[in-house]
Amino acid sequence: MIINSFSADGYKNLSDVSIAPHEKMNIFCGDNAQGKTNLIEAVWLMTGCRSFRGTRDRDFIGFDKDKADIRLDFTDSFRDQQIAFSVKKSNVREKLITLNGVKIPLLSRLFGSLKCVVFTPEDLFIAKGSPDNRRSFIDLSASQLKKSFVYALNKYDNLLGQRNALIKEIAFGSGHRIDELDVWDVQLAKTGAYISVIRDTYCNNLNIYTDSLYNKITDGKEKMQLYYQSTIYRKLEGRTDHEGELAEIYYSKLKNHVNDDLRAGYTLHGVHRDDVIATINGLSAREFGSQGQQRSTVLAMKLAQAKIIRDQTGDAPVMLLDDVLSELDTARQRFILENIDDMQVFITCCDSRVLGDVKGKIFRVSGGKILEG
Ligand SMILES: Nc1ncnc2c1ncn2[C@@H]1O[C@H](COP(=O)(O)OP(=O)(O)O)[C@@H](O)[C@H]1O
Ligand SMILES: [Mg+2]
Repeated sequence: MIINSFSADGYKNLSDVSIAPHEKMNIFCGDNAQGKTNLIEAVWLMTGCRSFRGTRDRDFIGFDKDKADIRLDFTDSFRDQQIAFSVKKSNVREKLITLNGVKIPLLSRLFGSLKCVVFTPEDLFIAKGSPDNRRSFIDLSASQLKKSFVYALNKYDNLLGQRNALIKEIAFGSGHRIDELDVWDVQLAKTGAYISVIRDTYCNNLNIYTDSLYNKITDGKEKMQLYYQSTIYRKLEGRTDHEGELAEIYYSKLKNHVNDDLRAGYTLHGVHRDDVIATINGLSAREFGSQGQQRSTVLAMKLAQAKIIRDQTGDAPVMLLDDVLSELDTARQRFILENIDDMQVFITCCDSRVLGDVKGKIFRVSGGKILEG
């Protein structure tokens, strides 16, 4: 996947930006607060995903601008495609979005066209943060390969919300009966079992890649292992093709813990509480890993995410590396660059000298303007 041209005007501080990226390496240099992350964020938005910084729609538009426009042309292994995005301050809900000239109602409908992998310093939370950081990583990565997975996740959230609301009502003695939960339990079990299978399968695949990547990062000195930890199943391995059976187990678990749920006031077990465990030499990376080891596990996971997209779809994603190289030592920097040398890359940094001699283009980012050279 190659971004051939990108332009933005009025997206945060970006102003009159129009660039033709190199098909491999693109380095964006500039001091702090010049717009480097804004650029990465604008490209990422065109994948149809929410802002990785959690920016709300109304904050997309420059303080002194009336609207924000983004345009991006890219080529995948089939064809040239074009995305245009425009939003006005007077009505941020109504965005004008087109994919290949066809109007699209929501930004999220772009999902699946342009595929990128973004890597920022905050991604360290995948290793050291709470389980929801890891679930988000797995869910996004698996969705990039299987668009329908997004619908299952949304459906589960909805069902869970309904069940939790009813649990609260029953607990407060509003007159609702426990057997009214059954309608939600049946559906939660079915959707939850499906989500468990997709996540478990993705984690097993990810593990194959991270095992070998981590081995290389540490010169064979340390072994990283990664697995999906379910709050419903003791072990999913080898049973992922028995979804009906798994849904029944899920259902029984919900039923057996209904009293605990009523005491807690919400659903205690399910895919919304699951985790992904990474170990280094058998010990939990989150609990016992050094900062350096945690960085390396995330690095391995991100590179693996990119390689899986490339291997399964035949299209390598565009790699967006925001400010991550400066935090890594030279050996790890070289390791990243070697492992993405068959992909188009956008790298931001304060000082391009950290990269040494690379083939590609260098851009200067200053005050929201981006100039080549
Ligand atoms: N809606 C906005 N309108 C104009 N400027 C914005 C907006 N949101 C953020 N900024 C500015 O963008 C700059 C930060 O850009 P950023 O891309 O994070 O910088 P960096 O180059 O350090 O990555 C700050 O100066 C901030 O004030
Ligand atoms: Mg930044």
